[in-house]
Amino acid sequence: MKRWIRGLVLSAAVCAAPGVFAQGSFGPYVPTPTIIVDRLLDMGSVTGKDYLIDLGSGDGRIVITASKKFGARGHGIDIQEKLVALANQNAASEGVADKVKFVIGDIMEADLSQASIITTYLLPSTITKLVPKFLAELKPGTRIVSHDYPINPLAYEKVVSFDLEEKIKISGTPLTVLYLYVIPARVNGEWSLNLTAPGAAAKPLNLRIEQRPESIAGSVEIGGARVPLRDLKVSGEEISFSYAAGAAGAVALRGSVKGAQMSGAVVSSPTAAKSWSAQRK
Ligand SMILES: C[S@@+](CC[C@H](N)C(=O)[O-])C[C@H]1O[C@@H](n2cnc3c(N)ncnc32)[C@H](O)[C@@H]1O
Repeated sequence: MKRWIRGLVLSAAVCAAPGVFAQGSFGPYVPTPTIIVDRLLDMGSVTGKDYLIDLGSGDGRIVITASKKFGARGHGIDIQEKLVALANQNAASEGVADKVKFVIGDIMEADLSQASIITTYLLPSTITKLVPKFLAELKPGTRIVSHDYPINPLAYEKVVSFDLEEKIKISGTPLTVLYLYVIPARVNGEWSLNLTAPGAAAKPLNLRIEQRPESIAGSVEIGGARVPLRDLKVSGEEISFSYAAGAAGAVALRGSVKGAQMSGAVVSSPTAAKSWSAQRK
């Protein structure tokens, strides 16, 4: 089934789930089945170093499982007081109350900057409103795993879908879709690019990157002409791209972004350049 049709089916089905969940103006409470909790944490590659925030945390199962299975710390936020009390009780009875906690609040106003991973099972109308907040507050490299709904217009890194019988009573279909996003380093703008060949004085090239939530493109200026970047990819702090350097051949670069600096290895080049760097202009 095409992705957008799946989205509509799931969205309509969860909204229409008959009498199964308490529903307020904040949307339905629908617990993620435990099998999916495990899949979701695996997809996010959760470890003991992570700080996980579950947005709309329900009975706390995602944060609690992340702590019990992987030793992660974290918290959950939910607008429903009773669910927050239940989640804190569950954390205590599962022996992880020293590592996780649950707070009453509106996710739209929560501070998310501490997260290394975010999980969500929220309707598309809610999740899309969070995009500017994600891009403003989350550190490059922060993963977001979303159960059933894409976080439009962000471009996902990975999507998996599978059927689970248990979902029929929730969404009217066994179809389950998990989306993984990785917050990219902010690279939009003009950069001065240097390729360093041993013993040669490098002339910086003008590198321009246009980064949007849903797309990324760029170019380098060579001999007064704009040459488009190919295979430009930014995932967390990692960047890679290539470009045609005239008849001599192509240049391929891989590296990392640290604020206003980028640097890395030259994967291939017609020159003897082995490393490269770029400074934000
Ligand atoms: C579908 S349930 C998911 C519960 C849990 N994350 C899970 O996967 O088991 C969505 C939860 O989000 C909460 N919620 C919805 N909008 C919210 C908001 N603006 N602020 C805080 N919580 C919200 C609801 O109260 C509900 O408990």
